[in-house]
Parts: sequence; C-alpha cells; structure tokens
Amino acid sequence: MAVAWRPHAGIRLKPDPQPWAFAGVWLQPDPVVRFAPCHTSPQAAHRDSNPGHSVSFTLPRVDLAGRTAIVTGASSGIGAATARKLREAGARVVGGARRVERIEADVALPLDVTDEESSAAFVGRAVAELGGIDILYNNAGLALGRYPFTESTEEDEATVLHTNVDGALRVTRLCLPHIRDGGHILFTGSVAGRQAYPNAASYVAAKFGLRGFVYGLREDLLGRPIRITTVDAGLTQTEFSLVRFRGDEEAANAVYAGVDPLTPEDIADCVLFAITRPPHVNVDEIVVKALAQSSGGRIVRREA
Ligand SMILES: NC(=O)c1ccc[n+]([C@@H]2O[C@H](COP(=O)([O-])OP(=O)(O)OC[C@H]3O[C@@H](n4cnc5c(N)ncnc54)[C@H](OP(=O)(O)O)[C@@H]3O)[C@@H](O)[C@H]2O)c1
Repeated sequence: MAVAWRPHAGIRLKPDPQPWAFAGVWLQPDPVVRFAPCHTSPQAAHRDSNPGHSVSFTLPRVDLAGRTAIVTGASSGIGAATARKLREAGARVVGGARRVERIEADVALPLDVTDEESSAAFVGRAVAELGGIDILYNNAGLALGRYPFTESTEEDEATVLHTNVDGALRVTRLCLPHIRDGGHILFTGSVAGRQAYPNAASYVAAKFGLRGFVYGLREDLLGRPIRITTVDAGLTQTEFSLVRFRGDEEAANAVYAGVDPLTPEDIADCVLFAITRPPHVNVDEIVVKALAQSSGGRIVRREA
C-alpha cells in the first residue's frame, strides 16, 4: 500500500535545468509545488486528475535555500566539506565537533557525541538557533589503530563504538522531535560496514552496527515524511588516517600513497545529491569507492 504524505507547506522544489511539466502545464523555472494530501508525487496527482492520459515528467529537485541543517564532525574532512556545500546551496548550517574553533558554519557549537550532556546541550542550542531541523547529517566518527583484534584494548573498542554507533543513535534520538516534515537524516557509513578488512575489527563492527541502525530507523519512521540515507564511503583523504594512527604522519600518508583517493568534496557531493532529489525519492544507500579499490582492504597502488 502506498503511503500518502504531504510535504510541509511551501516546500520549495527546484527544477532540473530543462523545462518540466506538472499536471500537464509547462511551468517556469523555480516554481513552488504543493502536493494534495492524498498524493505521493506530482505523477500521482496528474494520474488522478487525468485518467487515461500519460505524460513524462522531469521532476523538480529540493531547493536548499532557507533550509536548516545540522552536521556533526564538522571540524574537518567530510563534515567540513559538506557543511560548506550545504551553505553554498543556501542552507543555514549548525556544525558540531570537539574542536569547535575549526568549524566553518553559520553557527559552530561544541559537541562530543560520546557524551550525553554535551550532545543534549548541542541539540538544544542548535534547535534554538535554527528553529527546526530539515537536515541532520550524522558524520562524526573515527577509527583507532590497524592491528589484529588479538591486540585490541577495551579503551579503543569503547571509543570507536561509542563515537560511530552510540553517538549517531544519541544525536538522532535527540534531534528527531525537531525534524520537520520533509526532513532528511543522513549518515556517513563506510565500505568497512559492508565488507570486513583485516586489522580493523572494532571499526568494521561499528560501521556494520551503524548500518543496522539505519535499517532499523527506516522501519520505525516508515510512513513519516522523513528521508533516510547512508553514504558509505571508501578511501577518502581526510584526517581520518592521522587520527587512526594517533598523529603518525608517515603512517597516515602511506594510506593514500600510489592511489587517487576520494576527496571530502566527493562525499559531500553524494550527500547533496541525496538531499536534492525530489521529495518522494529516498536514496537509501550510496556506496562510493576510489576507482582503485574493491573494498577497504583491496587497493591497487601505482609503483613508487
Ligand atoms: N576518510 C575515510 O576514508 C572514510 C571512509 C569511510 C567512512 N569515513 C567516515 O567519515 C566520517 C568523517 O570522517 P573523515 O574521514 O572526514 O575524518 P576526519 O577528517 O578525521 O573527521 C572526523 C570528524 O569527526 C569528528 N569527531 C570525532 N569524534 C568526535 C566526537 N566524539 N564528537 C564529535 N565529533 C567527533 C571530528 O571532530 P573533532 O575531532 O574536532 O571532535 C571530525 O570533525 C567518519 O564517520 C568516518 O568513519 C571515513
């Protein structure tokens, strides 16, 4: 059974570059489209009002002008790039991270996703600044070490799981009451959450766990006009490896040697793609890898 929903009043939809038709009428660029409560999309509206008449649509995209967004892990890498692109697209962005001084956003707030009090204060202040949330990007995360699990420690496991999994669950739970109809919750997953690679067991477990949460959340929010997407990234050149190797630059640089890794902007583009699809389209998962890799563990490198 199709679930009917209605975007919140006045949701703005931006057309693709070419002209497009809605309900048989050619419209000028940048219209504001409203669906009737019983329709899931413009096609459905057209079909019901024009029985027996078919028409092809190029559907309008969601316009981010005036929309509000929260980005966790906004102080570097993928989060910083996504905050920048969201702002360029017209969204008002609150960024959160522990190194708050490094965040470039409309509002920069301190956030430690492993800490309940810090997360609650962050969401409270973010909502006070934004008024409501249209986009939540759960991106904060890390890995620690590249060693066999026999060498793992309680401390590393706790940090990795609490940051990547508990942190995303916590921030999502705190934000949910403030996410408006037509809203979108996104996650930075990883190819490590789809296929294991050696010497990364706690990170692999964390990203598999995060993907499980995304699936569970989708079940529980089904029927509500909130979209959910995980962008599962492959080898991306950020501070991720520097953090993983605890500041060892040589070890971090070796991760990207002899290969063209993804850039944070590549991942941000995927996030923006998912967000700007027409509101009835839910991009469930995007898996994006460097061309020279087939998994987190198999990477073909150029000779030095
Ligand atoms: N780079 C890759 O190859 C790759 C591949 C797949 C997935 N990912 C995922 O992409 C996401 C972003 O990582 P990145 O590659 O952009 O690495 P990055 O440059 O190290 O950025 C990680 C971000 O997460 C934040 N963060 C870490 N712990 C936090 C905490 N407890 N509370 C709040 N923020 C925290 C960091 O901010 P502070 O340190 O200032 O708090 C930083 O802003 C992570 O979830 C990572 O697992 C990365």
